[in-house]
Amino acid sequence: MNATTQQEIANLSDRAAEVRLNVMLGKPISEFTEIDKPKISIFGLGYVGAVSAACFCDLGHEVIGVDPDPKKVEHINKGESPIVENRLPELLGNANKLDLLTATQNAVAAVLETDITFVSVGTPSSPDGSCDTAYLQQASMQIGEAIKFKETYHLVMYRSTVPPKTTQDVMIPIIESVSGKKCGIDFGVAFNPEFLRESTAIDDFYAPPKTVIGASDDKAAKVAASLYEGNVEGEIIQTSIEAAEFVKYVDNTWHALKVVFGNEIGRVCKAMDVDSHEVMSIFCKDTKLNLSPYYLMPGFAYGGSCLPKDTRGINHLATSLGVNIPVIKNIMKSNETHIAHAKSMIEMMPGKRVGFLGITFKAGTDDLRESPAVELVKQLSDDDYKMKIFDPNFTPTPLHDTDHTQTKMNDVGTMLSTMSTKDGMSLLTDCDMLVITHNDESFKEIIKKAKGNMPVIDLVRMEKTLTSPEQISGICW
Ligand SMILES: NC(=O)c1ccc[n+]([C@@H]2O[C@H](COP(=O)([O-])OP(=O)(O)OC[C@H]3O[C@@H](n4cnc5c(N)ncnc54)[C@H](O)[C@@H]3O)[C@@H](O)[C@H]2O)c1
Repeated sequence: MNATTQQEIANLSDRAAEVRLNVMLGKPISEFTEIDKPKISIFGLGYVGAVSAACFCDLGHEVIGVDPDPKKVEHINKGESPIVENRLPELLGNANKLDLLTATQNAVAAVLETDITFVSVGTPSSPDGSCDTAYLQQASMQIGEAIKFKETYHLVMYRSTVPPKTTQDVMIPIIESVSGKKCGIDFGVAFNPEFLRESTAIDDFYAPPKTVIGASDDKAAKVAASLYEGNVEGEIIQTSIEAAEFVKYVDNTWHALKVVFGNEIGRVCKAMDVDSHEVMSIFCKDTKLNLSPYYLMPGFAYGGSCLPKDTRGINHLATSLGVNIPVIKNIMKSNETHIAHAKSMIEMMPGKRVGFLGITFKAGTDDLRESPAVELVKQLSDDDYKMKIFDPNFTPTPLHDTDHTQTKMNDVGTMLSTMSTKDGMSLLTDCDMLVITHNDESFKEIIKKAKGNMPVIDLVRMEKTLTSPEQISGICW
């Protein structure tokens, strides 16, 4: 053993030095999966880390907190809370009395002494709005340095909020290159987003809205889930690392959207002298269409006789009242962008003969009013595309356009009638591509028979297996 290595070992705490010595002497160390309560290290003792540390101690784990901030380390070592949070002082005090919780600035030692490492360091916004992963990169380097010396499996569970693919593209490569070991074999990685709300963080730890685990491999998934099974309420959802990463971004964006939507409605209500809380409490009672998964699955644009008309109506109302509602105002713009996106997918395909499977505003109705498929057909027709339409519910009717011009109304109705066919299979011979706008059972046989070189543009997420995966392009998947 050289002098540098001896000095490194001397700098480590007793357990870490013992582990490192055992590794160097080739002595086996027990696999932590056999241990009833794995020891946990937690990087970052801020709002997330301090709460997790207290709660995992409460569940009987030994925890070592790691933070470069000496004040946070000192607080934790005294059993005091570094932050203001309900019930946290009590839990940290208990953990301290039971000798379950310590904190250190020595990151490498903490990893060597434990079986699982949580990472909850900050991921602030960079000046350009991107996610700054500098603290995560530093923590991953420190974890890699420790894993280099571990012969036993170690699980790293990232909890900091990051954009999708960050774990795969940034953190795992750092740990692998610093440790010289392989993710999924020598160590595992899981992304386990945190859903706590400050002020109710302890309650949220035990009763989270959901527990989401995206893992590098089955073993990592199993070990990560075992920490929560039987200990916290709600479903444990196993998924890919990138879905676990993104769901947290999506959750927070949704929450922000809910806040501004409620406030925009509130401003219109106030200008009309309508009680905003009365309106929104009735709105919230509807868990079938309003607060529900309905309308939330990515697909094609909205249309029909109500949504376009009434979003236009509320915008007009707000403008006439002098109330600025930028989010609601941009709903229509977003819908138009989605139709334009579908058009650009069609334009990327070879040929100008397009077969539409579905033209009414949704499946199961003959209503053509403000159908996004009709809008798409109109725009393509202006660009000299030739369309053929199969929709079992299509009945030739004059169409009211949004500008209510009589000429346009009849033009569109006539145009659709000339494009429509009762023979769906003819689309396969007369068109260069298929565009699916409805999830209609009767379309499946046609799609299945599409030749291998015929592109299929799917706006509704039909079953992928109907064609070869290369042949079908989904609008949002
Ligand atoms: N605060 C919340 O309510 C909340 C909820 C869910 C998710 N998150 C996410 O969790 C992460 C942490 O949030 P927070 O509010 O707890 O942050 P925080 O700023 O309160 O705490 C982060 C801590 O990490 C420490 N740190 C920095 N580099 C470190 C390193 N290399 N090793 C160990 N510690 C290091 C810092 O000193 C700090 O104490 C963020 O990504 C955040 O977006 C926060």
